[in-house]
Amino acid sequence: MADTAAGDSGTSLEQRLDAMLEIERFDPSQQFREQALLSDPAVYERAARDPQGWWAEQAEALDWFERWDTVLDDSEPPFYKWFTGGKLNVSYNCLDRHVDAGRGDRVAYHWRGEEGERRDVTYAELHRDVQRFANALKDLGVQQGDVVGIYLPMIPEVVVAMLACARIGAPHNVVFGGFSAESVKERMEFSEAKVLVTVDGARRKGKTAPIKATVDEHMGDLASLKTVVVVRHARLDGVPMTAGRDVWFDEVCAAAAADCPAEPLDAEHPLFILYTSGSTASPKGILHTTGGYLTGVAATHRYVFDLKPDEDVWWCAADVGWITGHSYIVYGPLANGATSVMWEGAPDYPHKGIWWEVAEETRATLLYAAPTAIRTFMKWGHEIPERYDLSALRLLGSVGEPINPKAWLWYHQVIGGGRCPIVDTWWQTETGAIMITPLPGITSTKPGSATTPFPGVAAEVVGEGDGEPIDSGQGLLVLTQPWPSMLRTLYKEDERFVETYFARFGKERYLVGDAARRDRDGYLWIIGRIDDVVNVSGHRLSTAEVESAIVAHEKVAEAAVIGQSDEDTGQAICAFVTLNGEIEGTDELIAEIGAVVAERIGKFARPKRIIWADDLPKTRSGKIMRRLLRDIAEGRALGDVTTLRDPSVMASLESQIKDAQ
Ligand code: WT7
Repeated sequence: MADTAAGDSGTSLEQRLDAMLEIERFDPSQQFREQALLSDPAVYERAARDPQGWWAEQAEALDWFERWDTVLDDSEPPFYKWFTGGKLNVSYNCLDRHVDAGRGDRVAYHWRGEEGERRDVTYAELHRDVQRFANALKDLGVQQGDVVGIYLPMIPEVVVAMLACARIGAPHNVVFGGFSAESVKERMEFSEAKVLVTVDGARRKGKTAPIKATVDEHMGDLASLKTVVVVRHARLDGVPMTAGRDVWFDEVCAAAAADCPAEPLDAEHPLFILYTSGSTASPKGILHTTGGYLTGVAATHRYVFDLKPDEDVWWCAADVGWITGHSYIVYGPLANGATSVMWEGAPDYPHKGIWWEVAEETRATLLYAAPTAIRTFMKWGHEIPERYDLSALRLLGSVGEPINPKAWLWYHQVIGGGRCPIVDTWWQTETGAIMITPLPGITSTKPGSATTPFPGVAAEVVGEGDGEPIDSGQGLLVLTQPWPSMLRTLYKEDERFVETYFARFGKERYLVGDAARRDRDGYLWIIGRIDDVVNVSGHRLSTAEVESAIVAHEKVAEAAVIGQSDEDTGQAICAFVTLNGEIEGTDELIAEIGAVVAERIGKFARPKRIIWADDLPKTRSGKIMRRLLRDIAEGRALGDVTTLRDPSVMASLESQIKDAQ
């Protein structure tokens, strides 16, 4: 019998979780192992012996119009190619083959809207809508290779738009709805998008944001952008539509032909670009292609989550605008013919139990969420989820940032009733699919560790200085073997691609950008980014990007941003700001700076804390020493200050912080 979460023997949940922190390992239950897709550890050796053979086997689970000649073309590292000579179509694999096999009536998405709306979209309906919109895109002049921007909230149309692009070979460039219109413009400009698909308005916690009107204000004159397609969702009145440029989604679909055969595309045809943050202020356009990407996401979705498409109800509680949504709301689940939950809204609207209400009502069996959400639920109290029937759940996943053991245990006990294995999955926008993870029917898990690489993936922890593999200890994480779903390049920036990922340890070793520890059992513990990337609630931000937004305020002379560790959001943005001349830091100014950041990047990037600084600690060559700023912000003893141009800066910063408290 499964454990229940609340203390039934007089001990509090808190005490029980504390006692459990001592437990090192959680083995898969016999019951889970017996029914698991993978339960024999020999799979690891098999994949290690012949990684290409293993990945080819995974690719065979897809439908190909033409089989590949070569599994891996590594003649020009680090520009690896997979399944060359093969032809397939992602949208065909996600839709047609399920419909053709008589599964058209299966629900692809149980969509649940903020105001209690329910829309169950079947595979057949998606297939119909995708064909129409694919034809509409063609009617609008979109050709194979043209980039289509997508800026939509969590509604089924976002999936329709993505798959329609995939159907005709037009790479999409989705921008997360939390990014500002200014960021959308930047990303459309960088990718030279021809069409942008957006929405009249987006709903969030009972309020409606006029997306189309805001996009118009910021879009300016983008020579490449010919058409803006607007989905009616919030039913706003007076949506500005520019004649000759803007069209309604429903109208172009109605005017388009019904049949649109899926285009046979090269395995290496670009599927999408997704911008993400790096060390510098300019975002990186991660490019993913067709055959390898779909192989990676379908295989990991099936095996990491032990997916049984005929029985499971899958819920990835991310936003489609991030890679997690691309791979595990859209492509992986649809390629596998799964039934998914798609939740439009926030976790606390209309009430703090809404996730569990949706999980109960849809009988969700597999849930994939971020640690920041789990910590939030933990803070709200176990009484809330305990009001719902979560007995259908059989596996839980975590993604986006390290999960602290306490949150892991709470998730396991309170949400999973003590019976659900937890898979802590490490990966990145760049890797396309999950790389380091337990296999739930095999791996004995340790709370806080993402455990070991997925079969066919090879990772090492290496010394920061010498690059030598570290058997047990801390160093930098590298992936030492190409994998099918890896990024192919940074869009139109091949050199930056090589420089960012393959300059430090050579073309055979992909530099992840995370520090990690390898323990004596070979388990990997991700520590966090080594570059100037901050992870706020699983949202990846570059400090340089936030700094350049802050200095755009006319009163700001200089800014340095760091990620300060934060109980709720993992990391939080903390900005040290130097003002021009004699200007005094005020609360109004803090609000104004927050507004500039919201406008330039998005609300989620607003600093949680602003510290006024007369000067910033810099090396003799003028580089800001963020390490010292982190020490100060987190109240630690200062590290070495001898390399500073002016060591007295630190003392005055410390006194400024004291004054403010
Ligand atoms: C960075 C990638 C993977 C999809 C969501 C984020 C951190 C991700 C974990 C994990 C510890 C994790 C890493 C990574 N990260 N998953 N399970 N444990 N850290 O994708 O925005 O590209 O960010 O997120 O630092 O490098 P992303």
